[in-house]
Amino acid sequence: MNYQFSVITPRGLKRYISVLVLAGTLLGMISCENAKPPQKITFSEHIAPIIYKNCSGCHRKGEAAPFELLDFVDVSSRSKLIKYVTETGFMPPWPADAAYSHFIDEKVLTREQIDMIGKWVDEGCDPGDPAKLPPLPSFPNGSQLGKPDLVIKLRDVFKIPGDGKDRFLLMRVPYELSQDQYISTIEVVPDNKKLVHHVNAQLLSYPSDKRKDVMKGNVVVDIDDYPTTLEAYKALDLPNDDGTFPMLTQSVTNYLPGVTPPLYPPGIGGFKMSRKGAIFLKDIHYGPSRKDTSDQTAFNIFFSDVPPKRPTQEFQMGTYGVSPVVPALVIPPDTVMKFTSDYEVPFDISILTVNPHMHLLGTKFLAYAITLQGDTIPLIRINKWDFRWQYFYTYKKMLKIPAGARIHVEAVFDNTRKNPNNPFSPPQTVSEREGSMRTSDEMLQFIVTYLPYQSGDENISLEGHK
Ligand code: HEC
Repeated sequence: MNYQFSVITPRGLKRYISVLVLAGTLLGMISCENAKPPQKITFSEHIAPIIYKNCSGCHRKGEAAPFELLDFVDVSSRSKLIKYVTETGFMPPWPADAAYSHFIDEKVLTREQIDMIGKWVDEGCDPGDPAKLPPLPSFPNGSQLGKPDLVIKLRDVFKIPGDGKDRFLLMRVPYELSQDQYISTIEVVPDNKKLVHHVNAQLLSYPSDKRKDVMKGNVVVDIDDYPTTLEAYKALDLPNDDGTFPMLTQSVTNYLPGVTPPLYPPGIGGFKMSRKGAIFLKDIHYGPSRKDTSDQTAFNIFFSDVPPKRPTQEFQMGTYGVSPVVPALVIPPDTVMKFTSDYEVPFDISILTVNPHMHLLGTKFLAYAITLQGDTIPLIRINKWDFRWQYFYTYKKMLKIPAGARIHVEAVFDNTRKNPNNPFSPPQTVSEREGSMRTSDEMLQFIVTYLPYQSGDENISLEGHK
C-alpha cells in the first residue's frame, strides 16, 4: 500500500499520506488494540475458538453437515476449502445481510475472523500449543431446550430410496392426548439429520365427535403427485370424517439444521394442542441420498400450565397472501425479473419473526417498511438467495411497525441458463400456479409473525429464552 503511494504520488502528497498512515497506526494502537491481527496465528489460540463457536454445532456426528470440524486434524485437512467457503460467505450458512438488519442466533463471521482463517491457511496451518486449546463446547443431545414433556414421532418409518432425488413431502403426524393441552413450543428432532433439510409444521385440531380415528389413514404424500394442494390434503386424510377441514394453527414450529426452535419470552406465543390432533408438516424437505435409508423424525413437546396470553399471529404477503405479487409472478425463459408486493399495516404491530420464501429461481430478496412520516425501517435483505437455507429470522427485540406504514417486498428471479438451480434446461416459463406449492413452480412470500403492539414491546428482548 505504502509502496504504491510512493510510486504514484508527488512528494508532498506522499509525506501527507505517510503522516496519515502513521497517525492511523498510532490511533489503532491506542484505541483498538484487540482488532490488530496477532503476529502468529495458531489453531489453538485463534482458529479453534472461531470454529467451535460457528461451525462445530453442525459439523459433528449425528448433525447435518457432511464431516466433523472438531479438532486440528479435521480443520487443517480441509484448510483450503474452509478458507474458500468462509471467504465466499457460503459457510456458516446465513443468507441475511448482517449489514442490513440483525437477528438472534446470527451465523456470521466478522471480516477479521475471515481474514484470520485465510492468513492461518496461507501460513501453513500452525497447530500452536495444544495446552492453549479452548475446551470443546458441550453440545446438546436430543433437545436444545431441556427435557420435553412429551415426544411424538412420525407414525411410520419413512423409507427414502437412494435415487439421488430431493423430496418435498406433506406429512401428518397424528396423536391422541388424555385432554387438551397448552404448550409453549414444539421442537423438531430429525432422525436422519443428513437428509432432513427443512420442516415447517402446523397443528390440526379435530373435534372429538368429528373424527373417529385420527391415527388411521395416509400419513405421507408427495406434493408433486397432485395437481392441487387441496387434492394432496385429501389424499393425506386431513379432513374430518364428514369432509370438512379441522382447525389449523399456522407456523407452530420450523426446522433447519443448526436452528433452535422458536421460544419467545413467557406469556408470548404458545399454542393449544387439542386432545385429538395432528402435527401437520406442510413441508418436509429430504435432500438427495445415494443409498436407501429412512427417517422417523420426532417432535419434542413442551407443556405450559397457562393459555397463551399473547398468542402470536401471522400474515403473509405475496403468493396466497394479503397483498398480491406485482406484476403477476410469471417468469419467461431467459429473463431476470424483479417483482414486488406492498402491504399497508392497518394497526400498530410488533414483529417477532420474518420468513422470506421463494423457490429455485430466486436470487435476491429485500423487505422494509416505510412509515407515514417517510422513515424507513429495514426488515431483511438477502443478496444471494439460497433455496436451502430458508430461516425464520427472529429479531433481537420486537420491532414496532406503526399503523399506516407500508411494508415493501421486492425479489429478483433468474430464469436463465446461468442460474445453476434452474429446474429446467432449457429454461421454461415458470410461474405461480393456483393451489400449487411444487418447487418447480415459483412462489414469492414474506411471512410475518407479529403481535398487536403494546407499549414497551420494542424493549422486550427475544433472545435467550430457554
Ligand atoms: C447451520 C449448520 C452449519 C454451520 C453452522 C456450518 N456448516 Fe458447513 N456445512 C453444513 C452443511 C449442511 C453442509 C453441506 C452443504 C451442502 O451439501 O450443500 C456444509 C458444508 C460445508 C463444507 C463443504 C463445502 C463443499 O462445497 O463441499 C465446508 C468446507 C464447510 N461446511 C465448512 C464450514 C465452516 C468452516 C463453518 C464455520 C465457519 C461451517 N461450515 C458452519 C452445515 C453447517
